[in-house]
Amino acid sequence: MNKKRLLYSLMILLAVLCAAVVYHCKNPNMASDYQSPDAIATHLSGEQFAGSESCMECHSDIFTTHLETAHFQTSAIANAENIKGSFTEGSNVLDLKDVRFTMKIEQDSFFQHVNIKNRAVEFPPSKFDIVIGSGVRGQTYLTWDGDGLFQLQPSYHTASDGWINSPGYPTHNIKRPINDACLKCHLTVATNLNSSKRNTYNKEKMLYGVDCERCHRPSLKHVAYHRENPEVPEAKFMLNISELPKQQRLDICAQCHSGLREVTLRGSPFSFLAGENLDDYSQNMETQTSNSSLDVHGNQYGLLTSSKCFQEAGTIDCSTCHDPHKNQRGQTAFFNQKCMACHNTATVECKVESHKMESVANNCIACHMPSFPSKVMTAQVGKDSLETSFFIRTHLIAIYEEEQWDQSK
Ligand code: HEC
Ligand code: HEC
Ligand code: HEC
Ligand code: HEC
Ligand code: HEC
Ligand code: HEC
Ligand code: HEC
Repeated sequence: MNKKRLLYSLMILLAVLCAAVVYHCKNPNMASDYQSPDAIATHLSGEQFAGSESCMECHSDIFTTHLETAHFQTSAIANAENIKGSFTEGSNVLDLKDVRFTMKIEQDSFFQHVNIKNRAVEFPPSKFDIVIGSGVRGQTYLTWDGDGLFQLQPSYHTASDGWINSPGYPTHNIKRPINDACLKCHLTVATNLNSSKRNTYNKEKMLYGVDCERCHRPSLKHVAYHRENPEVPEAKFMLNISELPKQQRLDICAQCHSGLREVTLRGSPFSFLAGENLDDYSQNMETQTSNSSLDVHGNQYGLLTSSKCFQEAGTIDCSTCHDPHKNQRGQTAFFNQKCMACHNTATVECKVESHKMESVANNCIACHMPSFPSKVMTAQVGKDSLETSFFIRTHLIAIYEEEQWDQSK
């Protein structure tokens, strides 16, 4: 290193030290705040959440890629960056049979204005407060009325890049209460204020997105311990997922990917914690439905566990193919390798003709995990059109007819 660079480095070091001293004099509690950080929310079990920003300093790689995932982006406080629907004149209207909604920006906030047709009733505008959905297929928006949370009628539909009537809404103006059974898969935690009004929440204690601590349990103790003991190399106060039995590993994903699980057996929809048995907390209504006729929406667990791959391979769970910390949508080559790890020419060979294989670019999932229209996730796009379905990839890995393959649809 030359002298100039050494001097320069020393000067920077000195400046940083001075800044630290000044900062510390102004904030005498800083060191202890750092070592005993505040909880940003508390789970019903009493365990406390630290929030993913606190993980950044020690797990920066995972933290950075996690920001790009549909999980992290699946809910947020509404702002210009995350609302995908347009507020530009000409494309800011949802026109339904009995009512028209106009989306407007006023003083940096986002509103829907309601106009009931053929009637002189006035409705106050409602604010876009919360976004639900990363926007892979669409987004829906929630609004606060006091402590009560409601869904707005206009939703955003990604494929048509426009406003649609929220799935399941009638065509007149209503605000649908949003209870915790809806939020449980799109937020890390939300706490009801009142057990008889299940759409009222403590606004300050909501943790948006499917964040680290939904899969790893609330982690405040882990953060505080490692900040205080930076020399300790092994994890303390942290669940080791790789050592969990297979069912508990699956249950971490199944809490949101095994159907609605409407039957609550214990606690609230947010009670289950990673490492526990999911079936102790909730069950599906349709336990009698054969797994192969399950809907493709939100039940990857039910479908995968019905597949031969799952039933006949000893070890397979969601992490066999998915890295939960990365956005891997569209990485076909990566997923094909996952299939080939078990299915190579030494074991079982795919006997499909090579020209057909080439027609789908040798992509295993195009034929063995094709996308199907959901029967429950549908929306009306355009005023007079019929309901259209969202296509979701099945996790029933199997042999399908040629007309069911991705390219044939
Ligand atoms: C001050 C440093 C520090 C902070 C902050 C921190 N961790 Fe850790 N964490 C560690 C250390 C050290 C280990 C053990 C070495 C390793 O696995 O990287 C660890 C390991 C882990 C493991 C692996 C556990 C295992 O046994 O498999 C998980 C999961 C984890 N941390 C999650 C989190 C989450 C979630 C947050 C934020 C809420 C967080 N950590 C914040 C230091 C930290
Ligand atoms: C049991 C878990 C679960 C519940 C409960 C749930 N969702 Fe979802 N939701 C999902 C999953 C999983 C997806 C992704 C599509 C898929 O895999 O089927 C999704 C997708 C969505 C999307 C599209 C997101 C995108 O980026 O494309 C929206 C919008 C949405 N849900 C809104 C809601 C609303 C509103 C409620 C409550 C009435 C709700 N969801 C309840 C699991 C759930
Ligand atoms: C959707 C669930 C999910 C989310 C969200 C999630 N993780 Fe993980 N994480 C897992 C699973 C599952 C494993 C175990 C992987 C395995 O053993 O196959 C894991 C493993 C880890 C490990 C240990 C192994 C490794 O890859 O280093 C660390 C550290 C970790 N996660 C930190 C984090 C942090 C920090 C965040 C948030 C920024 C986060 N995780 C978000 C599910 C999740
Ligand atoms: C708290 C609920 C929750 C948990 C736990 C959860 N997911 Fe999800 N997952 C969702 C929701 C909601 C979506 C849809 C997000 C969106 O697009 O808005 C989703 C989407 C996904 C996607 C599609 C990503 C994309 O880019 O479109 C994959 C893959 C996935 N989850 C895998 C997993 C795996 C593997 C686990 C377990 C390690 C897991 N999930 C745990 C709720 C959850
Ligand atoms: C952990 C290992 C494993 C992985 C990963 C795996 N499989 Fe399988 N798969 C098996 C086993 C074991 C069987 C049952 C014996 C056989 O037919 O080879 C099977 C069966 C199949 C079958 C026959 C199904 C039937 O109903 O007859 C197809 C097709 C298949 N796998 C395709 C795939 C594809 C495509 C992927 C990647 C998306 C994949 N597999 C990933 C282990 C695996
Ligand atoms: C054998 C490999 C394999 C296993 C095991 C697996 N997946 Fe997937 N999964 C895939 C592939 C391939 C895709 C398609 C990715 C893409 O579109 O780029 C996918 C897509 C998804 C999607 C998005 C579906 C859509 O159409 O938007 C979700 C959600 C998901 N997986 C959840 C899970 C969950 C939860 C588990 C465990 C119960 C699981 N997966 C196990 C291979 C697998
Ligand atoms: C163009 C569609 C298509 C593609 C792409 C494709 N397969 Fe197949 N696969 C089939 C069909 C059709 C069969 C049934 C063939 C038969 O038995 O006549 C099959 C059979 C299989 C079987 C069962 C074999 C047996 O005898 O039980 C496995 C395993 C399999 N494929 C794995 C894969 C893997 C791994 C890939 C990706 C490298 C892949 N396939 C790509 C269409 C396809």
